[in-house]
Formats: sequence, structure tokens, C-alpha cells
Amino acid sequence: MCEHARPAPMIAPSILSADFANLASEIAAVGPSSVDPGVDWVHVDVMDNHFVPNLTLGLPVVHSLLKATTIPLDCHLMIEDPARWAPPYAEAGAHNVTFHAEATDDPIAVAKDIRAAGGRAGLAIKPGTALEPYLEVLTGFDTLLVMSVEPGFGGQSFMPEVLDKVRTIRKIVDRGDLRLLVEIDGGISASTIEQAAEAGVDCFVAGSAVYSGDDPAARVAELRALATAAQSAPAGQDR
Ligand code: DX5
Ligand code: ZN
Repeated sequence: MCEHARPAPMIAPSILSADFANLASEIAAVGPSSVDPGVDWVHVDVMDNHFVPNLTLGLPVVHSLLKATTIPLDCHLMIEDPARWAPPYAEAGAHNVTFHAEATDDPIAVAKDIRAAGGRAGLAIKPGTALEPYLEVLTGFDTLLVMSVEPGFGGQSFMPEVLDKVRTIRKIVDRGDLRLLVEIDGGISASTIEQAAEAGVDCFVAGSAVYSGDDPAARVAELRALATAAQSAPAGQDR
């Protein structure tokens, strides 16, 4: 087992579960305050009703969000044709632009265009998508987003079987063979975040767990504390 120093766990609330009529204040509710540094990223789920059976928001809303917050935006594009649509999110100023491996035949070209536009590139894989075919192309990415629910909706149950992919990529990153943030998305809550942290996740997306109650900042603090404790616990499991 590897003892590489890992960065502190990152928390990225998904505004999919926030009040869409008040996105600026919903984001501010998890931002920097006098008692907490605030969240690391804000996760923005873009859905086109083609790649997934749901429709959310797109580039115009992201433009407005970028004016409303200084927290880096983590745009998760659940869309067809990312070659056409992903780079403009980076041009707009999104920090991280993640698209789905299943949506393109040429993920490296899309990642290059995102980086050329000033963003960091992320590759997302659905629960049923194997990691191995993408290991080579991941040299061109900054983030791997492992979906732990079928993409499309918030509030679904966490799929622990995807953690095998997290353990595999964690080992590869810890060996120094890839430089990547490992992100997980779907069903992350106070009862699931520890197993994801133990498996080796760096960045935790949480939608309903943060925004379904009346104190999003408290939920973020709770998730961060659980992930930090689980990550730094003596690793009994191989990772
Ligand atoms: C689902 C989205 C997620 C969603 C997660 O397709 O990609 O980001 O907001 O929601 P929870 O945390 O409620 O599973
Ligand atoms: Zn997402």
C-alpha cells in the first residue's frame, strides 16, 4: 500500500438539488465564511435530454454563475457531441469541464480543445463503463469522474460496485503513472462518503445530501470531516 501524501478531500456540491430560482444565494450558502473556507468546487450538471433523459441548464446560465461566484465551477456535461459543446464552457471560464467517454469517439481531441480554451479536462464514465479502455487516453486529462449512479437525476442510491474502478485508478495515480484527480458523483452522503474516501476518491460531488436540508454549509462540513477521517484512517484495506 502506498503512503503518498494526498490532498485534503474536496467537496463539490451539485446545484442540481438547489433552488434554481436562487442559484447565486444557494452557491453563497456553501461559499467562504468566517468559520469555514467554503467548498472547493461547485458542480454544475448540464443535461441535454439526449445523452440523458433529463434537461437542466446550459452555457448562458454558466455565464451568469461565473459572474455570481468566485468558487471554481466544475461543469459535468451529460450531453451528446461534446466536441462541439464542451470547449465553450472552458472559454467562458469554467475551471473544470468534464464530458462523458460514452459520448465521443475521440476523447483526447475534446480534452485538447478544452485545455486550449483554458479549462481543465475531465472524463466521466457511467457505472457500467469499464476503466481499462480509457487508461491510455487519461494521460490527456486532469480529472476522472466515476459515476456512482446512472447519470440524469439527483437523489439516487449509491452504487458501491463502482469503487473497484476507484481503487484501480488510485493505485495507478499513487504509483505516479497518471496525474489525475479522482472524482465521484452520485449518492454521496454521510452514510456513503467514508467508503468512497477509503477507496481513494479525491473530490466528492454531493447534491441532495447538501441541498435537501436547511443548512447546506453544515452538511458540507459534516461530509468533509467524514471524508478526512476516512482518508487518514490507517488503511486496513488495500488501496
Ligand atoms: C446525476 C448528476 C449528479 C447529481 C448528484 O446525473 O451528475 O451530479 O446532482 O446528486 P446526488 O448527490 O443527489 O446523487
Ligand atoms: Zn454530476
